[in-house]
Parts: sequence; C-alpha cells; structure tokens
Amino acid sequence: MKSIAFTVNGQTVNVSTYPAKPLLDVLRDDLNLTGSKECCGKGECGSCSIILEGEAVCSCLILTGQVEGKKITTIEGIGTVENMDPLQKAFAEEGAHVIKNRQWEQGKSASVIRGISAFDSECGAVLLVNVDQPVPSNSINQLIDSHQRLQGKIHLPVFQGRRGHPVLFSTELLPDLREISEECQGVKSIIRKYDTEIVHVPMTDPSVLYNFNTPADYEKGGQTCEFRK
Ligand code: FES
Repeated sequence: MKSIAFTVNGQTVNVSTYPAKPLLDVLRDDLNLTGSKECCGKGECGSCSIILEGEAVCSCLILTGQVEGKKITTIEGIGTVENMDPLQKAFAEEGAHVIKNRQWEQGKSASVIRGISAFDSECGAVLLVNVDQPVPSNSINQLIDSHQRLQGKIHLPVFQGRRGHPVLFSTELLPDLREISEECQGVKSIIRKYDTEIVHVPMTDPSVLYNFNTPADYEKGGQTCEFRK
C-alpha cells in the first residue's frame, strides 16, 4: 500500500492504496465518484472515461500509481449551471436549457423526471433522446410533423416494422412522465399504458434502431446513418 496524492475535480486527494490498482476502482470505491462505470473493463466502451491532464482516457486501463501528482476530471466535475463546460455552453447559446440531474445514481428515470421539470404544458411535445442514440434531423422532423398533423399521445419511429427511437410524447403525458420509476421500467411503462394510441411513423433511415454503446457500434452504424450526411 502507498499513499498516492492527485487532484480530482479541483481537489487534492490522498489515497492509501496499491499503485497497481485500476484508477477506476479507486475513483468508485475509495472516492465514491461512481459516475465512471465499468462495462467492458478493457478500454473499448468508454463508460469509464475521465480526463487526465487534459486527455480523455479510460480509467479502467490506468493504474493509480500512474496518476500521482496529476490532475483528473470525472463526470462529476464537468460544469455547473453557474460555470458551464464548453459543450454545455454551446447548447445554451443555441437556446437550450442545461439541466443537471444530481440524483443520477437513481437511474435514467430520475434524469427524465429532472429534464421534464423544465417543461410546462405550454410546450407542444417532449422528444426523448438518449445519449447513445443518433439523432438524424430528418427523423426528428418527421416525428414533429406527425405530431403536428395527427396529434396523438405518442409518436414512435418505425423502420421495417421495428419500433425505434427517439420517442415523442405529447405534453398531456407530462403527469405520467413525472411518475415513472426504474422499478416500473421507466418510460417503457408509459409506452405500454398507451400502446393502442401510439402513432407509428415509418422511417427510411435505419439509424432509428441504433444504440451506440461501443466505438465499433458507432463506426458500423455511422456508415449508414443519414445524420452523417
Ligand atoms: S470499462 Fe473502461 S473502456 Fe469499458
């Protein structure tokens, strides 16, 4: 065991650990920074990404001894409403509201509920897009067009008979969305509840079915997505 000091999210920490212990484990177990996740454990998926001395790296591949005296930023240290990260700032400059879910460890439902807290019934609809899903503008425009022409509670893209994403919810479903929980499978419970009222929107772009969970998914799917054009 050795005492290893480094800076995390602007604060110097001193951890008594084995230099060969993966940094990801130290972040999660010793420092309770659980925003970096272990998925593949071999540098392929990026779910454990951190910024080390200005470079994005996979913390599952870094040994704690390697970061002695260095600066690290984890997802917990990326931007606040008062002091935004450049990416958050770019969204805000385009008119987006940046909302951070501080209860992220409670799961995706908590993030959805936090996000829709910014909406009121004055807005026409809620489009739910996950970070690992491509968002071709053509598909989004088709969903919005469908919502404006046909009304309906839920508009869902379909490619060759298979349901995809993103899903557009009418704001009359805001009360239902506020009640979702991980135990009831989140937004899937709303889709089940209103299944017979769903408007299916046929798409020509297969990317409505894609999830980019690994760089390989991204490379494969990106070749065929219309959003690449
Ligand atoms: S867990 Fe580190 S890259 Fe997948």
